[in-house]
Order: sequence, then C-alpha cells, then structure tokens
Amino acid sequence: MSKIEIRSHPKLYEVYMSGPSDNLKLYSKNLIPGHNVYSERLIEHKGIEYREWDPYRSKLAALILKNPTSNFLSNSLNCLYLGASSGTTISHLSDIVKDGVIYGIEFAERSIRQLIQNTSNRKNIVPILGDVRYPESYAKSIFKKIDLIYQDVAQPNQAKIAVLNSNYYLKSDGLIILAIKSQSIDSVSKSEKVYKQEKEILENASYEIVESINIHKYAANHIILIVKKK
Ligand SMILES: C[S@@+](CC[C@H](N)C(=O)[O-])C[C@H]1O[C@@H](n2cnc3c(N)ncnc32)[C@H](O)[C@@H]1O
Repeated sequence: MSKIEIRSHPKLYEVYMSGPSDNLKLYSKNLIPGHNVYSERLIEHKGIEYREWDPYRSKLAALILKNPTSNFLSNSLNCLYLGASSGTTISHLSDIVKDGVIYGIEFAERSIRQLIQNTSNRKNIVPILGDVRYPESYAKSIFKKIDLIYQDVAQPNQAKIAVLNSNYYLKSDGLIILAIKSQSIDSVSKSEKVYKQEKEILENASYEIVESINIHKYAANHIILIVKKK
C-alpha cells in the first residue's frame, strides 16, 4: 500500500499532486489501470490508480509546475496535439479529457508506430501520420472543432505552424499552448531574441499572448506560450 498522500490540484481539472510546494510531484488518474506508457510510476491511493507525470519528460507537466494563471483543462475538450511523438504527454491529456477527443499529429513513422502501440487502448486518442506544416493535409481525419491546440514540435517556424493550424481548426474562443524551443529556430541568436520574434509573429497574426512561461528548469531553451485569438 502506497504511503503517498495524493491531493487535487487547487485549480486544474483532474490534475493531482503530492508533496510540499517546493518539491511537488504531479499525477493524472490512470484511464487504463495497470498500464503505464513511458515507464512512469503507478501509485494507488484510496483505491484509485495514478500515473506520475514527469516534468522533465513532459513540457505540459513543467508548465503546470510553473503555476500558470489560465485554467485550460476540462473533461470534454477536443484537442489537436501537434508533435505527439510516442505518447508521453498525450497519454496524460487522455487521462484528463475523458469525454473529449485528442487528435495526435506526428510525422516520424517510428514515433507514430510507438504512439499507436502505447495508446491503442485509449479510445480518446486518434493518432494521425501527418506533417503539421500542412494542416489541410489531415483535415479529412478531424471531425470536431478544436478547443485546445497543444504544440511541441522542435521545428523552425513554430509560431507560423501554430497560426496555420489555429486558423484551420481552432474555435474562436479556443486556446493554443505552444512550446517554443529557441534553438530549433536559430541556434546562434540569443533565446530571448528568438522568443520575441516568435511572439511578434503571433501578435501580427491577431493572436494575444495570454501568458509566457519560462520552463528552462525542466527543458533547456524552452518557453511555453498560452495564446488566444484576439
Ligand atoms: C519534442 S518531441 C514531442 C514530445 C511530445 N510532445 C511529448 O511530450 O510527449 C517533437 C515531436 O515533433 C515531431 N515533429 C517535428 N516536426 C514535425 C512535423 N513537421 N510534423 C509532425 N510532427 C513533427 C517529431 O517527430 C517529434 O516526435
């Protein structure tokens, strides 16, 4: 029996935590009890199984540990996940948005194969082999208007990719959570200059930066922007 006391996050829907505020651990409630996705710890507390959510593996967990003001999670969100990889973060989202659908776009064949293997028992994840630079190319696989775009692709043109996908799929009151890796854009420029340049691309396309959060502690050269349409 686990001695870890798990409690609800004070604000974010279906996010759980344990430990003191200077050493918090995060969890999501396991949608598929008995199964883990990336060798994360499974913990039982009061008859419920939780999956530990590692901020060094998942930038969404890193963002949550940095206490964003926005309240961006609910049970029925329809999400477009750009850069799904083998399923680490998308599987935690799948634990949370139990009544929504998450379309996970990934262009590396090896990663999408692993994504399918790792998440085939999660009926709210739809893996799609596609290139996020061309949002129209996966339009035939997406049947819902999107409430939340989560983007984590280590590519140049990250803000442009977010705008293209948002213009295509996002509801007018939807949100984008965008991880920006400065060195994918320009390995020479200073990070701050790159972040400023990407923010300007979003603002010039009529998007508002609601929050800009530095997650360097967990992922080198990364910030996360929470963005909405103006
Ligand atoms: C940093 S990893 C994502 C990790 C993942 N978000 C997680 O937390 O579990 C970036 C992923 O984006 C994918 N990617 C990069 N460029 C892409 C593109 N143009 N279209 C689709 N996927 C892309 C890569 O293959 C890689 O799997």
